[in-house]
Amino acid sequence: MDGPGRDPSTFPPYLYEAYRATTRRAPKQPLIPLPHTLSEITGPGPALSGALHQTVQGAASAEDSDLTTNMGTGTEAMGERIIVTGRVLDEGGTPLPNTLIEIWQANAAGRYRHRVDQHHAPLDPNFLGYGRCLTNKDGVYRLITIRPGAYPWQNHPNAWRPAHIHFSLFGSSWVSRLVTQMYFPGDPLQPLDPIFNSVPAAARARLIAQYAHDVTQDGYALGFRFDIVLHGPNATPFEPYETAQRATR
Ligand SMILES: [Fe+2]
Repeated sequence: MDGPGRDPSTFPPYLYEAYRATTRRAPKQPLIPLPHTLSEITGPGPALSGALHQTVQGAASAEDSDLTTNMGTGTEAMGERIIVTGRVLDEGGTPLPNTLIEIWQANAAGRYRHRVDQHHAPLDPNFLGYGRCLTNKDGVYRLITIRPGAYPWQNHPNAWRPAHIHFSLFGSSWVSRLVTQMYFPGDPLQPLDPIFNSVPAAARARLIAQYAHDVTQDGYALGFRFDIVLHGPNATPFEPYETAQRATR
């Protein structure tokens, strides 16, 4: 079942039985397109001009983009430092500036700072697990964080999520929000993961970051590149809205 405008060759379906939660939340009736009204189309997303834009830009400070320190305790988070960077592009390859990128993730031990996460793994008092930044004039974002750990979930026996970082993108209006997950190259848990497998096979590689030695900083952190394409035949797979609302998984 796919909603209006969703390309089944790119996007995960609402119903994917191996991902058990989708059997409860997938729509059982045909979707009804709702026309967007002025309030949804006109914002206030970050890709605006004028004072409101300045407000949003101000809300994404340089400190917000470094998850190794943005807990604000003065002590660095535990784990393997990584730099994640890439471009946000439209269908024609045009970079999109002023896109608000928000990420959230488990800590190095595979634990979220979230009340519903009861995984028996330590919380890191110096790791918030959330950060954000805006793409620059060339559509480039750059975040520093720690490599997240795998964590168990209750979908099926011995179920473990591969290491991943959740991404949310906000463009020029409220209706422009897109949510996806970035994975790491060479992770043996990916082919076992129903969420990863719910993405059509031809599009799965678009969710895996590439190791980038030119991004890696000597003596400091490994670099990964993850470009995000919003539309078209090479679009990044995004999650159905209902999934995105529960996206600690
Ligand atoms: Fe997750």
